[in-house]
Amino acid sequence: MSKNTTEGDQLLKFAEDLREIYNSEKRKKAELESVQDQLEKYAKALNETIRDLKEANKKLKAQVELEEKEKLLQKKLIHANKMTSLGTLASGITHEINNPVNYIQGNSQMLSDIWIEAEKVVSGFAGKAGNQTFGGLSIEEIIDVVPKMLKGNFEGCLRISNIINGLKNYSKSGESDDFKEFDVNEVIEFSSSILSSQIKKFTNNFNLDLGEDLPAVRGNPRQIEQVMINLIQNALFSLPERSAGIFVSSLFEKKSNDLKVVIRDEGTGIDKKILNKITEPFFTTRRAEGGTGLGLYISYSIIKQHDGRIDIDSVREKGTTITISIPVKGEKQ
Ligand SMILES: Nc1ncnc2c1ncn2[C@@H]1O[C@H](COP(=O)(O)OP(=O)(O)OP(=O)(O)O)[C@@H](O)[C@H]1O
Ligand SMILES: [Mg+2]
Repeated sequence: MSKNTTEGDQLLKFAEDLREIYNSEKRKKAELESVQDQLEKYAKALNETIRDLKEANKKLKAQVELEEKEKLLQKKLIHANKMTSLGTLASGITHEINNPVNYIQGNSQMLSDIWIEAEKVVSGFAGKAGNQTFGGLSIEEIIDVVPKMLKGNFEGCLRISNIINGLKNYSKSGESDDFKEFDVNEVIEFSSSILSSQIKKFTNNFNLDLGEDLPAVRGNPRQIEQVMINLIQNALFSLPERSAGIFVSSLFEKKSNDLKVVIRDEGTGIDKKILNKITEPFFTTRRAEGGTGLGLYISYSIIKQHDGRIDIDSVREKGTTITISIPVKGEKQ
């Protein structure tokens, strides 16, 4: 083999190697380009995802803000409704207390007038009655003490009037939202006593049938009072005549572990057409009589906060039965 031939072969081999390297580089470049393409696609998708996430985050924030606003509005509505209940409470108390306070005031006035005359006569006996006492008091002591007692009566009446007026003007936001254990029967009895003058006005057939040994309920008794007042008032306003009755009962249902309060009235009933509207805020058929349409809405939200529910069963011209169910927590674990 000549020297030239060997060199030619080597050159050929070198050229082949070069082509091989060139092709391999070309392949790598193509692969790299495809990876770059892929990466670009990923980056685009990632940007889109980030954009979507930002959008979702924005929506979520708006939703949270909306929920906060709704909560605040609901709190305000509960407060507004409580003011109405308190108005009822104040007028009920004013009605019940004003009469006896007026007697005491009138009688005290008369006694003062009587005493002005009588004192002259009684004074004539001073030092002449020996050991005789009246209600344990000597004549001298009576002359000293009776005007003070009459003044005390007047001042007492004034204080009671001031307290009643203060109650009427009550406008603070009120009790804390703290939940505690309470006796539902006590709440029913208290609410009925607050409404006693209204109850007397609308019916002579008001009945309480409270279950014995009921388990305590966890919640806010002031708010449950508010619910009871709303529901009993609604029942009262539905009655067509005084002989129509209202039946309020409480019981514990073992099966569901619920404490139930049932308010049944023999009132006008609720038209099927409006049955799904009556729990909406501001829905009322009693606008002309001063209804705000908040009673049921507030009652629903309060019972919901107690994890309970309200069921309405109504038959036109027969009456309405409202059942409140509140789970008894801690009984069944
Ligand atoms: N027991 C009931 N019998 C008949 N209708 C009822 C009864 N309870 C509620 N309703 C109807 O539901 C409507 C809404 O009741 P809700 O208590 O929310 O408001 P309201 O009583 O009209 O006003 P308020 O804000 O003073 O309570 C009433 O206007 C009435 O038409
Ligand atoms: Mg009402």
